[in-house]
Amino acid sequence: MNRQKETKTQPTQVMTRLREKLFRLARAAMKHAYAPYSDFRVGAAILLGDGRVFTGCNVENASYGLTICAERNAVFAAVAASARKPEILAVAVVNHRGVPCSPCGACRQVLAEFGPRATVWYLGANGVVQRSMQELLVDGFSLCPND
Ligand code: THU
Repeated sequence: MNRQKETKTQPTQVMTRLREKLFRLARAAMKHAYAPYSDFRVGAAILLGDGRVFTGCNVENASYGLTICAERNAVFAAVAASARKPEILAVAVVNHRGVPCSPCGACRQVLAEFGPRATVWYLGANGVVQRSMQELLVDGFSLCPND
């Protein structure tokens, strides 16, 4: 009988590896952030249903309100590179200060458009937080509530 040690990859290991990969890519994107006004650099990485990963960083503007967050830039890059509506499966967000930072409300609404069932990882007060999109955005805006 084959008594070799069981080496099958477990679902939790798959999630851990995916989380680490997305955090690594989010950190790389964060290095490109343009944040001279807040000095708060953010990076985001999103995994699509077809396996592609897109990243984004925050881009600020002298007219502050024109600033775009890292998460939305990642989503917009994915849409621009997709022939069909992309499906977001997972998201990771980091900031260069390593402080708690969850996606802002506007980003939650945009992420939910393409990933209503996505898993989202970000830094909380006690380390990495994992949340579902449903947890992050309750009763988000929809033009077609029954879709
Ligand atoms: N920021 C993000 O990139 N993502 C968020 O979810 C919240 C805030 C950016 C916007 C701005 O450039 C800086 O963080 C400070 O608000």
